Amino acid sequence: MSTPFDLVFFGGTGDLVMRKLLPALYQAHAAGTLHAEGRIIGLGRRDLGREGYLKKVEESARPHIPNLEEPQWQSFCRRIEYLPVDAENAEQFHRLAGQLGNAAGQKGRALVIYLSTAPHYFMPICRHLAAAGLNRAETRIVLEKPLGHDLASAQRINTAVAAFFREEQIYRIDHYLGKEPVQNLLALRFANRLFEPLWCSAQIRAVEITIAEELGVEKRGEFYDQTGALRDMLQNHLLQLLCFTAMEPPRSLGDSDVRNAKLGVLNALKPFNAYSVRADVVRGQYTAGQIRGQSVRGYREEADISPQSRTETFVALRAEIDNPRWRGVPFLLRTGKRMAGRLAEIVLHFWPEAHPLFGCGGSPNRLSVRLQPQESVKLFLQMKAPGTSLCVHEAALDLDLLKIFPERRADAYERLLLDAIDGKLALFMRSDELEAAWRWLQPVLDDWAARRPEPLPYAAGSHGPDAAIDMAAACGVDWRNR
Ligand code: BG6
Repeated sequence: MSTPFDLVFFGGTGDLVMRKLLPALYQAHAAGTLHAEGRIIGLGRRDLGREGYLKKVEESARPHIPNLEEPQWQSFCRRIEYLPVDAENAEQFHRLAGQLGNAAGQKGRALVIYLSTAPHYFMPICRHLAAAGLNRAETRIVLEKPLGHDLASAQRINTAVAAFFREEQIYRIDHYLGKEPVQNLLALRFANRLFEPLWCSAQIRAVEITIAEELGVEKRGEFYDQTGALRDMLQNHLLQLLCFTAMEPPRSLGDSDVRNAKLGVLNALKPFNAYSVRADVVRGQYTAGQIRGQSVRGYREEADISPQSRTETFVALRAEIDNPRWRGVPFLLRTGKRMAGRLAEIVLHFWPEAHPLFGCGGSPNRLSVRLQPQESVKLFLQMKAPGTSLCVHEAALDLDLLKIFPERRADAYERLLLDAIDGKLALFMRSDELEAAWRWLQPVLDDWAARRPEPLPYAAGSHGPDAAIDMAAACGVDWRNR
């Protein structure tokens, strides 16, 4: 059961609140993990009144809830209130403070203020919150991405929020960190003595991290065209997966220790230079093709996308972590829209057997940690096939985590909202992590801004541009079929 709370959504009528956040809270409510003394206040510019807001919630949030039970839904809706608050209108923040009352954000009652708005509203919102006396001891500010579009803008956001809130009050959300298998990576690595001695360059030849989507840009064309795959996925989700995969054992699972360990990885990433910024990064854009047998349009034909757009919908890069554990190991990161299949996976490729006794068959060991579409951990081994010949074949120790642990999983946002309510920071990014990620990628952004390179085309439903497949092949990793 969580702490008693007041949860306030700026951008309360927006897509994220309707599609993800309210459905996630409903699930927590139905599972009995939300404190009975918890209320949710949606904020928006228009004066909808509570009834008007609930109508919107009914129309826009309810359809995103599987297995909804009517009595639970009705009791969940009783938690919801609404207030018209414009980010620029200081006066309305005093009304918000009035509605929240004195208990919110004081002794044991969490006040969680979720900024699901464009980042340029963060500064005025934080200033007006402080002026209305809402930066209290137990106030937590949750910041939704995009947290900047380059290093300078990320620093501006950090500075703007830090002017009114302490770092321990700021929860920068990356929903990938709320996914169960991401946390399971910590267990796999640090609760199994077996793996730690193998987790290094002496044993591992390459690491690949993939987040591939079948979806295109949906209705977010305008946003996506200004953003692209590097900013939308790589700077945050992929780098967070990289951190969890590569970090040194943290001293504890406490907030600071986990975040320090992740920062250690980001700071050890080998900086790009004039050569690697081009040789180690591939950017692509999908053209028309087929997804699951259905014809789909190319990116430049999508709604709200310029027909000359050079925005990348695919990015792959080869990174190196310059520390004793990983020096020399290529980390291959890739993400793309309209790829052949939905896949989020981390694969560690081991070196081939040093003294191969078996003359035929066999490929080096691999360990795969799959987040999506199904949660699994697979260790690929070589086993002798029955019979007189001494040939080895690949066979996998295959953990289907949904079968092993069939209990309900909290969705990523549900988990992270509960953590914010309970004041647990470990799964949120700290300001220095955010800046370290942007700092590392800034030379790539600068290079792209200077050259405006034409992205390499790849057909929707394919595995991305050939240049990316070749880059992986050069590291012994096969991206031709996956
Ligand atoms: C979001 C991106 O952060 O993550 C989207 O903005 C992307 O473009 C989404 O589709 C993917 O998340 P998931 O959880 O569906 O893999």
